[in-house]
Amino acid sequence: MPSRPDAHDPSTLRVLTQAVHAGNSVDEGSGAIRTPIVMANSYALPDDPSGISWSGTDIPLYTRNSGVNQLALQQKLAALDHGEDAVALASGVAALHSVFFTFLSSGDHVVVSDVVYEATHRLFTELFPQKYGIHATLVDTGDPEAVRTAMRENTVLVHAESPANPTTRIADIEALAKIAHAGGALLSVDATFASPMLMRPLDLGADLVVHSLTKYINGHGDAMGGAVIGSRELIQRIKSDAMVDVGGVISPFNAWLIMRGSVTLPLRMRQHSTSAQAVAEYLEADRRVDFVAYPGLPSHPQFDLARRTMPDGCGGMMVFALNGDHDAHNRFVANLRVVTSAVSLGHDESLIVHSDASSPRAEHWPVRFRRNDRYGRTGHLRFSVGLEDAADIIADLAAALDATDGL
Ligand SMILES: Cc1ncc(COP(=O)(O)O)c(C=O)c1O
Repeated sequence: MPSRPDAHDPSTLRVLTQAVHAGNSVDEGSGAIRTPIVMANSYALPDDPSGISWSGTDIPLYTRNSGVNQLALQQKLAALDHGEDAVALASGVAALHSVFFTFLSSGDHVVVSDVVYEATHRLFTELFPQKYGIHATLVDTGDPEAVRTAMRENTVLVHAESPANPTTRIADIEALAKIAHAGGALLSVDATFASPMLMRPLDLGADLVVHSLTKYINGHGDAMGGAVIGSRELIQRIKSDAMVDVGGVISPFNAWLIMRGSVTLPLRMRQHSTSAQAVAEYLEADRRVDFVAYPGLPSHPQFDLARRTMPDGCGGMMVFALNGDHDAHNRFVANLRVVTSAVSLGHDESLIVHSDASSPRAEHWPVRFRRNDRYGRTGHLRFSVGLEDAADIIADLAAALDATDGL
């Protein structure tokens, strides 16, 4: 632990202090002690601009390369995730795509988790193979041996999600990093469900960590963004190739909102974890509930691994299903009064989504669910436990269970 904290050097700060101070500075123009929103596309050039790189990303030049609010946010994200640098983009999907676009070329092979966010799944099962001849093997990344077996001569990237959306499957990142590196590949981890407060993949050996900032890091459901964190060298490649020349950069306003939301990230994650643990235990004990998948429950298939990789708590995400049919699940959701039925996750309010695995929109779900025996069901409720009082959330669930016919 550092003995002399210095607000200008995030590496000397504990995480609560970093969440407040990292990336923030006194604005030289106004004297404001918080970085203001700078809604400008361009920044003044020096008298002789001939030495400037027009695709440079380190100084404010043009907002697609680097704006004041983006630079501030990147500095904080790098500090929180123990990376050397970060790149902030317009959404979590833009961040995922920036990794794949930068490091993959035609003919390359990727090993990808078979339980991943919808867009990642479609990129690797449809768009990349069809458009660019990039092929992926989808495997259970909770099983290092399956990953080892899937590696090929031309594997350049292993990509996992932990905890995975939506099954909450955990990846053994240390084991995956060794396997990827032995095969000359990079390991990227989408840690959106955990946030840097609960797990830091770079400390466990991953090369790149991806977050949808839209979720926990912003935390208030009012801004979109995405980020990749890693070594200076890898992040610089992403900035040059996928940010400046593809252009999916974060807006100054969203960067500012996310910077503000992230101040309370450590406190919020603590509360999400505590409340979700209580909610998961409540649901699991009710005979009307078929199963609950939450990494903090001893019944979770990877409970021990979750404890090892997320020692400070398991976050706010779970999936569960009821002992009822498709319509009963919809009736249950309609009976909720505190919990809101809406997509997204990691907001202050509790959000629930009934994913009907048999609907055409979710055609990939059953395949991904069936790979894990425990979750081989026809549908489920993905639940993002919010910051309301846990007793109110549990009372709402209990009242909705009581009011739902057919359970
Ligand atoms: C694990 C995970 N990664 C990435 C994303 C995409 O984030 P965004 O909606 O900010 O593009 C999501 C969105 O739900 C997600 O759950």
